[in-house]
Amino acid sequence: MIKISIRNVTQTFPARGGAEPYTALSGLDLDVREGELLPLVGPSGCGKSTVFALIAGLVRPSSGEVLIDGVPVTGPALDRGVVVQQYTLLPWRSAQANVEFGLEARAVPRRERARRARDLLELAGLTGDTERYPSELSAGARQRVALARSLAFDPGVLLMDEPFAGLDARTRESLAEDLLRVWRHTGKTVLFVTHDLDEATRLGGRVAVMTGAPGRIKEIVSDREAVATHG
Ligand SMILES: Nc1ncnc2c1ncn2[C@@H]1O[C@H](COP(=O)(O)OP(=O)(O)OP(=O)(O)O)[C@@H](O)[C@H]1O
Ligand SMILES: [Mg+2]
Repeated sequence: MIKISIRNVTQTFPARGGAEPYTALSGLDLDVREGELLPLVGPSGCGKSTVFALIAGLVRPSSGEVLIDGVPVTGPALDRGVVVQQYTLLPWRSAQANVEFGLEARAVPRRERARRARDLLELAGLTGDTERYPSELSAGARQRVALARSLAFDPGVLLMDEPFAGLDARTRESLAEDLLRVWRHTGKTVLFVTHDLDEATRLGGRVAVMTGAPGRIKEIVSDREAVATHG
């Protein structure tokens, strides 16, 4: 079953300062299967974040369709959790309170909120004191909190745009393991954007490879050997 479907999407950004309109994506097709963790890999500027933004509902395609469960995406919604590179936690709230944040607005009872946040933090691999503030956590731990928070509403889809960029190699590897554990445990459909081919192959059975100018899917590889040679 297909969870996320991008069909023949072209994305043109309006001209700025007398320049021609820019075609970031052209005729892009991509299917993400239900329950799959699909890495989307490609060089800088090829349009990965544009694909992410389309699925997140942050931008609308110039033409073509973006579907989730066969229904067109019309904007951001709680059925899609999002994790990005830059630091997006609330600094004045503890790790635990950051994960609980969204649940408060939705009238989830306090105990239930606390329990769910604790479970998610543990699943995401945050060890130690969950009452620490973001400034007291390592960069890797902060991304574990961000991952836990993105799961608070139990979204069917998790969208990640270079969530581990800027971290050292060992931390990235350990976060990749945490993500794999979360994925196996929850069965979410995950789109994971990265420009790091090693990271992509570590995470995905299939890997979607993009090429740029204009952006499109070059190939879907499921054989790790093939990824290594085509990368
Ligand atoms: N709002 C916008 N207006 C104009 N051009 C844009 C806009 N957003 C993206 N672009 C251009 O579209 C192309 C694709 O951008 P995108 O951010 O999707 O690439 P990317 O693969 O995520 O790159 P990176 O690896 O650097 O994150 C780039 O050339 C970028 O400059
Ligand atoms: Mg990007």
